[in-house]
Amino acid sequence: MQTLIIQGGIPLRGEIAVAGAKNVALKAFASAILTDDRVEILNVPLIADVYYMLDVLKSLGIETDIHDHSVQIQSFSLKNTTVPIDIGARLRTSSLVVGPLLARFGEARIPNPGGCRIGARPIDRHIHGLQKMGAKITYHPEDGFFYLQASKLHGAEIEFEKNTHTGTEALILAAVLAEGETVLKNAACEVEVDDLIRFLVSMGAQVKRIKEREIVIRGVSKLHGARFSLMPDRNEEVTFALAAVATGGDVIVRHSRRAHLGAFLKVFAQAGGSHEVIDDTTTRYVQKGPIQSTDIVTKPHPGFMTDWQAPWALYMTQAVGISTIHETVFESRFSYVSELRKMGAHIDFFDPPVQDPESYYNFNWSDRLEGYHQAIRIFGPTPLHDAVVEIDDLRAGATVLLAALVASGTSYIHGVEQIDRGYENIEERFQKLGARITRKEKEL
Ligand code: EPZ
Repeated sequence: MQTLIIQGGIPLRGEIAVAGAKNVALKAFASAILTDDRVEILNVPLIADVYYMLDVLKSLGIETDIHDHSVQIQSFSLKNTTVPIDIGARLRTSSLVVGPLLARFGEARIPNPGGCRIGARPIDRHIHGLQKMGAKITYHPEDGFFYLQASKLHGAEIEFEKNTHTGTEALILAAVLAEGETVLKNAACEVEVDDLIRFLVSMGAQVKRIKEREIVIRGVSKLHGARFSLMPDRNEEVTFALAAVATGGDVIVRHSRRAHLGAFLKVFAQAGGSHEVIDDTTTRYVQKGPIQSTDIVTKPHPGFMTDWQAPWALYMTQAVGISTIHETVFESRFSYVSELRKMGAHIDFFDPPVQDPESYYNFNWSDRLEGYHQAIRIFGPTPLHDAVVEIDDLRAGATVLLAALVASGTSYIHGVEQIDRGYENIEERFQKLGARITRKEKEL
């Protein structure tokens, strides 16, 4: 296990560039299976999840190559349609190869996608849609695999009962080579989905978002290669903005996309956070006056994104007053609370009364386990002090890193591999902003 050692209490100042979006890169790789032509994807973040997803493609016999921040993929060498369990179970997004494999080869076998630590994360909404498109799907508990078969997928009208970001993407990938037209209703409108659509259209697919939550796909017989540059990662930008204001610093973010951050910038301003437009793709983040407490409810896009609530909680530990965060997308997304408490944060769990939880929450209510809570109350401002902390999910990891930057003293963060899943060279990039942060290869 790797450890980060952080000497906190230093305001971050300087410039940092946002890397390409992890949550588009992984799906763009799966999309490359849809053609035998060479596909080139640019602005790829060099993070663990990217290498994991390339391992999934390699396990199918696909040739991949990575130079600097661009990935080349050629699927003509594909020789099998089963994703091995040791590779597939590491990354939930491995399940997205199913649509392309069915569309091109009529079969696919994938391990039940590894739930992260943030909840069960089943793929029932994906399965339901694929079945409506003609796929025969069986689950084999004896080996933990889904077996899928389809002589030829056909178009269908599919209405998602609840929002699903990758479920929407899975069905788009299945529909682009299917027979006829597919209409996805109540489809996700996360900005990552639209970047993926742009990529597929550049490969010759006919995909169009005709309403905020409705996407129409007209199946074509073939797709061709393309060269595509990924949008910047909005989770990175929010992480850097909050690192700036929580440490009392002043940071200029390059490759900024303010249009992707609507719900964030609105509540950021309520908290006294200021974002200054330097140019189209450059934004300066700094705190104006004391940090004000806020009340957040996470929602699918265009709401306040669930990935943002963990670093936001850290920011609120420094706010004057009581803040609340109500997590409605995942059933267990507060693993960072125990670690922030070790550093002196005062955070309580509570469960807001909800009329009809099954329809209110984005997760399947039946997935909840004993002891889960959907909301936290954060009492601020609380000075944070150093601690030895563990992390077990990507966004919680980034939050604990920010907390260590805010805290007085020297903190040790074990399990930094989780941060590496979503943030490239995190310590070098924060060092450039003045952070005193080093990585130790082994347990201290
Ligand atoms: C994607 O996860 C992102 N991951 C998540 O980012 C992000 O938090 C989430 O969308 C919301 O925007 C990738 O794109 C790789 P969902 P996804 O399908 O697709 C439940 C990060 O840190 N559900 O919208 O898994 C599900 O369990 C990650 O980068 C079902 O029950 O999210 C969840 O509680 C974390 N059945 C809720 O719905 C299904 O068939 C939303 O899931 C599908 C989903």
